[in-house]
Amino acid sequence: MKNNPKTSHNRSLTILKREIKELSQKFLLLDNSVQEEQIIDKIICQDTFEAIDFLPNGFVDLLFLDPPYNMSKRFNSNKFSKLSIDDYSKWLDVLMSKLSRLLKPTSSIYFCGDWFSSTSIHFTLNKFFKVRNRITWEREKGRGAKGNWKNSSEDIWFSTVSDDYYFDVDSVKLKRRVLAPYKENGTPKGWEKKTEGSFRLTHPSNLWTDITVPFWSMPENTEHPTQKPEKLLAKIILASSKEDDVIFDPFLGSGTTAVVAKKLSRKFVGIEVDQKFAAISQKRILLTEHDKIIQGYNNGVFWERNSLNFQEKKKA
Ligand SMILES: C[S@@+](CC[C@H](N)C(=O)[O-])C[C@H]1O[C@@H](n2cnc3c(N)ncnc32)[C@H](O)[C@@H]1O
Repeated sequence: MKNNPKTSHNRSLTILKREIKELSQKFLLLDNSVQEEQIIDKIICQDTFEAIDFLPNGFVDLLFLDPPYNMSKRFNSNKFSKLSIDDYSKWLDVLMSKLSRLLKPTSSIYFCGDWFSSTSIHFTLNKFFKVRNRITWEREKGRGAKGNWKNSSEDIWFSTVSDDYYFDVDSVKLKRRVLAPYKENGTPKGWEKKTEGSFRLTHPSNLWTDITVPFWSMPENTEHPTQKPEKLLAKIILASSKEDDVIFDPFLGSGTTAVVAKKLSRKFVGIEVDQKFAAISQKRILLTEHDKIIQGYNNGVFWERNSLNFQEKKKA
């Protein structure tokens, strides 16, 4: 259980049965081919493997894939059961062969996994696309194990359809505190002294240590068991898409991709098989009308973890 309902500081988003029913009216259920304009900024509440065949060719600029990892896990109404490495690779193969029709020659693909799924992900992506990198991000949470190392990292594989792709490195630089500020002839070298402290804007690497997994005191937190942080999606969306581009997430979960796409003026299409999670996504999307905040991304800059105090000083 991620939430701590006893505390008065709990800011997690909740949903009532009545809301699920109401919000479900907005979902699509596909049984026929559709045009791009019919699905833009919509949630399709259906099995992805069934819905994909009805989607139009080449509508996706950025594909974000966060399917069940290769482990046994329950997602409310559905359960994924762990497969052998070969069988998970075959499952991904079927998925990618269906999805590739939806991409443009300029599309980018980001694919999430843990250390165990990563073997299959790399192997499968390599068959279809140009694999460019593997981002590893630190999950602060994680269950300790008696006979193994605690798993505190996840991977995101970055690939593109061709060599012609969009990547805006300047939009995803990281603001870090300078611990040993170096000066040359009395002038700061590569950093700035501000009232809030000494900071350097650094190039983003493929090792992300500035991500916080949503928890009960964050308004973005929901009851979804494997919700991705908005900050993580913001990095991917800013680096690999332009305003008005279409971001497609066929395993939408609690809606993080769609929410961040909206906050950053992109379009989205999402598929989620579970009605409750789809409703949570829809509720979060509606809330973006009044709330464009992405925790950890402030004034066009990504801040390192635990720097909220500095960011608040800057705003004042
Ligand atoms: C790892 S979670 C995605 C979490 C999401 N990125 C977020 O930030 O909340 C995977 C999601 O895929 C959904 N799912 C699993 N199999 C599916 C399928 N065949 N079609 C559509 N959704 C599916 C699950 O219900 C679950 O919510």
